[in-house]
Amino acid sequence: MSKIDKVVLAYSGGLDTSIILKWIKNNYNCEVVCMTADLGQGEEMDGIEEKALATGAVKAYVEDMREEFARDYVFPMFRANALYEGRYLLGTAIARPLISKRMVEIAEMEGAQAVSHGATGKGNDQVRFELATMALNPRLKTIAPWREWDLKSRTDLINFAKENEIPIPVSRKKPWSIDANLLHTSFEGGELEDPWNSPGPDCYRNITPPEMCPDDPEEITIDFEAGDPIAVNSVKYSPAALLSKLNELGGKHGIGRVDMVENRFVGMKSRGVYETPGGTILAAAHRDLEGICMDREMMHLRDSLIPKYAEMVYYGYWFSPEREALQALIDKSQEKVTGTVRVKLFKGNCVPLGRKSPFSMYQAELATFEEDDIYDQADAEGFIKLVGLRLKGRMQQSKWGGKDTEDSCE
Ligand code: ARG
Repeated sequence: MSKIDKVVLAYSGGLDTSIILKWIKNNYNCEVVCMTADLGQGEEMDGIEEKALATGAVKAYVEDMREEFARDYVFPMFRANALYEGRYLLGTAIARPLISKRMVEIAEMEGAQAVSHGATGKGNDQVRFELATMALNPRLKTIAPWREWDLKSRTDLINFAKENEIPIPVSRKKPWSIDANLLHTSFEGGELEDPWNSPGPDCYRNITPPEMCPDDPEEITIDFEAGDPIAVNSVKYSPAALLSKLNELGGKHGIGRVDMVENRFVGMKSRGVYETPGGTILAAAHRDLEGICMDREMMHLRDSLIPKYAEMVYYGYWFSPEREALQALIDKSQEKVTGTVRVKLFKGNCVPLGRKSPFSMYQAELATFEEDDIYDQADAEGFIKLVGLRLKGRMQQSKWGGKDTEDSCE
């Protein structure tokens, strides 16, 4: 194996990746360049560069990638209405390919031979990081300390930190594994490992529990252009700012909590609690707008592909020929998804109240219960006869052995 003398590490600034930084230096006897992507995780970014350097990194990249995240990852995925197992809005899964892409770029710039991440050997994230890296630069190796080292417990980790003078946060013991970005916050582990345990009040970060939400509903509008949201209440926002704005509104009204047991790619079931306030509003509004401006068969075909697309994102195949091909189809389906949706936010619910579009295919004169002169109701009779022919045939077969009866050819 060729010698590794420089590694790019996805560094969060937390205890785990600080330990990893030191561990890689000690074990591989190499330089470590840290990369921290600001994807909207909030306070965790403060002082991160100093921290990385103090912990032994030769260089630390700290990059604001919120716009790219929202524009090139979150929005394309929302054009697809992606939902994993019918509920999970994929907030963690969609962030991993972008972090990997940036790590690969930095590795190339820095002449590093490997990249590294702090994902454990039991989860989906390791798969996502590594598949993305393989797809973008197959020459790069991945160092996954959690799969390599012999630190078996939290106590081993604390001892390692002490021996290596890594500051151990004094804050209360974290009851969960949390992953946060502009799209969502996820909670896993701790008391949530028993799927019957309901998440306690501390398991809320950005969403007001519905019991404590405002008693007055709030009505907002969202404008879309070709499937992407561009404005809230007629005020235009950049993709990241728009998502923040919707997070604020959704959080205030208790919208976007999901508590589920899901199937991980690596085989086990796991329980997750997710907060996706802005994303939940966006998904509801987008789906609603499609109702007036998307062709029926186009919509049904696209809908049939949602589970597949979501699985690709969840499994970590963002950079893959199949995801790119599906994306092309989905983007094509969104060309006319332009217009405005009015939604009501109220105690955990997000309810569409109205929608309009310059490309609306809704024809009031066709749908009306009043008299019209385009649609001849008599035509429906022949239509139903033909589309039902096979049903009559099946019953004739089972009842009368296929023999014609007087009215069977009617
Ligand atoms: N279960 C979710 C997923 O696989 C969330 C994972 C959260 N990751 C974490 N490192 N805490 O996408």
